Amino acid sequence: MVALAWRYRWLSLRVLLLNMALIALNLGGLSSAGLGIDVLRHELLPDAPPAAWPGGWMPPSTWSPRATLAFVAFLVLLFAAVTALLKFVAAVASAELSQQMVIRLRADVYDKLQRLSFRFFDAHDSSSLIGRVAADVQAVRSFVDGVVLKVLTVGLTLAVYMAYMLSLHVALTLACVATSPLLWWGAVWFSRRMRPLYLRGGELGDRLIAALVESVQGMAVIKGFGREPEAMARFAAANSALRQQRRGIFWNLSLYQPAMGFLTQINQLVLIGYGGYLVIRGDFPLGAGLFVFANLIHEFAAQVGQIVNIANSIQASLAAAERVFEVLDAPIEIADSPAARPLPRAAGWIRLDSVSFAYHPGRPVLQDVSLEIAPGERIGIIGETGAGKSTLLALIARFYDVDAGAVFVDGCDVRHLRLHDLRRNIGIVFQEPFLFSNTVAANIAFGRPDAPLEEIERAARQAAAHEFISDLPQGYENLVGEHGVNLSGGQRQRLAIARALLLDPPILLLDDATAAVDPETEHEIQSAIQQAQQGRTTVLVSSRVSALEHADRIYVLQRGRIVESGSPRQLWERRGEYWRLARQQLCEDFAIPATEP
Ligand SMILES: Nc1ncnc2c1ncn2[C@@H]1O[C@H](COP(=O)(O)OP(=O)(O)O)[C@@H](O)[C@H]1O
Ligand SMILES: [Mg+2]
Repeated sequence: MVALAWRYRWLSLRVLLLNMALIALNLGGLSSAGLGIDVLRHELLPDAPPAAWPGGWMPPSTWSPRATLAFVAFLVLLFAAVTALLKFVAAVASAELSQQMVIRLRADVYDKLQRLSFRFFDAHDSSSLIGRVAADVQAVRSFVDGVVLKVLTVGLTLAVYMAYMLSLHVALTLACVATSPLLWWGAVWFSRRMRPLYLRGGELGDRLIAALVESVQGMAVIKGFGREPEAMARFAAANSALRQQRRGIFWNLSLYQPAMGFLTQINQLVLIGYGGYLVIRGDFPLGAGLFVFANLIHEFAAQVGQIVNIANSIQASLAAAERVFEVLDAPIEIADSPAARPLPRAAGWIRLDSVSFAYHPGRPVLQDVSLEIAPGERIGIIGETGAGKSTLLALIARFYDVDAGAVFVDGCDVRHLRLHDLRRNIGIVFQEPFLFSNTVAANIAFGRPDAPLEEIERAARQAAAHEFISDLPQGYENLVGEHGVNLSGGQRQRLAIARALLLDPPILLLDDATAAVDPETEHEIQSAIQQAQQGRTTVLVSSRVSALEHADRIYVLQRGRIVESGSPRQLWERRGEYWRLARQQLCEDFAIPATEP
């Protein structure tokens, strides 16, 4: 955080200098006004001491008292005018500083999120990450302009005021600021008290975003099950929890500030008692002394009041910073090793060597998995839900690193390949295809935004998507995703296949592309997949036997272990796990009871 302030030192320095100039102008204006009072007093009561002009300067004796007063008034006005101008400049400068910081921080957090590994996203839910990018960076920013700069400004201001007051009257100054340690102690106490409140505030904010995001995304389910009242209640609960929490913060602030303000008024009491006594004795000028002093004490109190705000900002920004820096400082687990090898275009060999993997220690998802795939082979992986099929694909693309064993692509451990090269050689169609809010063409060309339209069309044809795309009102320019037409599951799936095909990858990983579609669409996707398999290594995952009938070889995955492998025919004849699955599914399809013949 201090490094953050340092990065913006020049902008910060500018803000600081402007604030210093404002203090000087303020003192100038005050002294001028005090001078005016003394001139007037001397005029009314010739016994009173004459006004003490600074620097030994005296108005020419030819000036009438009225002219002198007018001159003083002009000085006050001049100080006020320059102050106003400088305040404007200072406000612009500090707004610029905070905006630059927020934009930069937000970009940093976003960039880091793009580079973090899947494990990080497994451990943090999306609403919490959204909160960090959207809201928390603001609070971190306030550490620089609300804490570091303020501390410097307030510190310098207090020092200047003190020095000025001491130069006017030492004993009076000391008497007037005697309560200050009390204020300091109060600020520290307050700051400690606020810290847990702000940390909790961040969590509650996340919960509110989570309730909102989930209800928007799950709207169909909520409406379908008639659970709108519960959804509203959940949101209302999150909302009011946040309100209550904020109210706690405001209560504390609202009580604390007036209390501190009252403490500072004790100074005024001392001033009027002791300072008044000094003036009456003639030891202290009324205007340049008591009047200026009263104002300075007032300003002093205001600055001390700032300490309350600072104490408040510190806690708010520290709590937020913890969350922002958790992202910025998170290690990137999956990254290029220094000696990473390039992989221009893979031939398409894939080998898994006794691979074991767990998302959580002690709960293995894949155990001792070995398989070997030659270029151009069409491999099927079958297994029940949760067997670890998607995980296996994720390991080939190195979304995670294996716990034991190794994954090889073209004979090289994937951990020693350049990550970017590896991913460029692999086309992936995920189980749940994700479409961005953009045109059909842009979604297909996601991996190669500069692809010409003919190639996009060719990929779409290969994926059996061209026809339905042409039927859309604006064809390839039609918007899809959040702000576009609603596509069916099968259509989204085919767009995702086209997206992978456009890259013309030597390795294609397809995750359960036909899991959630009707038989007719399944047939279309099947033929799309068969087209797509031409001339590349493909690993096709499915929980359905029918999807894998054209595979060269099938691996049967059961609870993270490969229990059988062979061609569909061999496996069928073995009458093992594959046969059991196949028979079960065939019987389901034809509604035959699955009893032994
Ligand atoms: N990101 C994840 N974090 C923790 N556990 C996971 C994650 N993804 C999958 N799992 C668990 O790993 C096991 C295998 O999941 P998966 O590979 O998706 O199976 P399949 O694709 O065969 O249905 C399941 O028990 C699942 O709960
Ligand atoms: Mg899966």
